[in-house]
Amino acid sequence: MLLSSILLVVSSGSYANSAPPEINYDEAKVPDYVLPDSLICLDGTQVNNAGGWFEKRRPEILHLFEEFVYGRVPGELENINFKVISIDSESLNGKAIRKEVGISFGDHEGSPRINILLYLPPDLKKPVPTFVGLNFHGNHTIHSDPGIKLSEQWVNNNQELGIENDRATERSRGSNSSRWEVEQILDRGYALATIYCGDMDPDFHDGFQNGVHPLFYQAGQTKPAPNEWGTISAWAWGLTRAMDYFEVDQDIDHERVAIMGHSRLGKAALWAGAQDTRFALVISNNSGCCGAALSRRRFGETVRRINRFEHWFCANFREFSDNEDELPVDQHMLIALIAPRPVYVASAEEDLWADPRGEFLAAQEAESVYHMLDTEGLAADEMPELHQPITSIIGYHIRSGKHDVTEYDWERYMDFADRYLIHTE
Ligand code: GCU
Repeated sequence: MLLSSILLVVSSGSYANSAPPEINYDEAKVPDYVLPDSLICLDGTQVNNAGGWFEKRRPEILHLFEEFVYGRVPGELENINFKVISIDSESLNGKAIRKEVGISFGDHEGSPRINILLYLPPDLKKPVPTFVGLNFHGNHTIHSDPGIKLSEQWVNNNQELGIENDRATERSRGSNSSRWEVEQILDRGYALATIYCGDMDPDFHDGFQNGVHPLFYQAGQTKPAPNEWGTISAWAWGLTRAMDYFEVDQDIDHERVAIMGHSRLGKAALWAGAQDTRFALVISNNSGCCGAALSRRRFGETVRRINRFEHWFCANFREFSDNEDELPVDQHMLIALIAPRPVYVASAEEDLWADPRGEFLAAQEAESVYHMLDTEGLAADEMPELHQPITSIIGYHIRSGKHDVTEYDWERYMDFADRYLIHTE
C-alpha cells in the first residue's frame, strides 16, 4: 500500500528533458533537505531494538534499495560450479601463492564465467583473512605478474592501458597496479582476491544482452523489469558468488573477508556488503553518488547526472532525476544496512564530483542504527582534517589528492581490518 503510494509520487516527479542545473560545488548552495529516518518504518513505527531492526526495518530498507535504486536480483541459479584453473605456489618470486578460480553457471551455451584471481601469503598455516574487490580492466591489470591469465572479456578501448579492439593485450598487464598494494597486503598477512567487473556485466549499455542478466530471463523476457537489476547489482551479485567460493576454499578465512571497492565499484561493494552479511567488513573508496554520498545534497554528481549511466541502476531509479527528495531512501541507509559490522568510508580532497562532505555525513547519519545496536558509531562530530583517520566502527578518512586508490588508502584499510578482523579479543 505504502510502496504504491511512493510510486505514485515519483511518477508525478519532475524528471524532465530540460537542461540539467549547473553542477554545484558550493556548500552554500546545498539545498535544505530532510533525510528519511533509518529507524522509522514505512508504517510509522519507530524501531528501538535489534529485533525490530533485523526483522522489520532492515528488510524494508533493503527492499526499497532493490525496488527503486539498484534493482532486485530476479532469482537464484542452480548449477553454479567452481573450478581451480591454476595454482602457482612460487609466484611473485616466492612471495605469494597465486590461484585462479573460475565460477561458471550450468551448461548455458556461451554463458559468462567469473574469474577470481587470488594471491595468498606463501607460508599458509591456517585460513587467512582476505580482501576482495572488483577491478575495472581485467585481473591481469592489478599486477605485472606474467602468470595472470589475460582477460578475454570485452574491455573498453584504451590505448594508454593497452586495450585494443575492446580486448586486453600483453601491454595492459599491471596497468592498474598502483591501485593494488599486492605485496603489502600479503606482508601484513592478508590474502587478496579480485574479479574483473566485466565478467559479470561489461560496463556499457547493450540493453542487458551480455553479462549475467540473460541467465535469469523468463521465457520471452528481453530486458530486466523496471524493478530488476542493473549493472551495479550484477557486480554485487558476482561478489556474493565469490563469497560462496570463499566458503569452500580451505585457505580463506571466510568469516574475515573485507570487501573493498573504488568509485563505481565502491557503489557495488557497499551494495554487496549491505545485502550479504557474510562480508565481515566493508570499505568504500571514493564511491560518491549512489555509493556513500548523500543524494539529497545534490553536490557534485547528482541523480540526474548519474542516470546518464542508465544501465547501472534499475529503470525505476530514473524517476528520481532532479527529484531526490522523493527517494524513499538516501545513502546513509545503505551504510546503516551494514550495521553492526565495521564499515569504512574514504574520500579524497580534490574528488568534489563524489562529494567528500556528503560521504562523511552519510557515514555519520548511519550512526543511529549502530548506536541502537550498541556499537560505537562514528567517533567524530565534525569532518576530520586531511590524513586524520577516524577508526571507530564506522571509520572515515579524507586524504589529499584526486579520485583514486592510493597506498595511503590501503594502509588505512589494513589498519582498520587489523583492528576489527584480527585483534578482536
Ligand atoms: C563517473 C561517474 C561516477 C563514478 C566514476 C567512476 O565519474 O560519474 O559516479 O563513481 O565515474 O567509477 O570512476
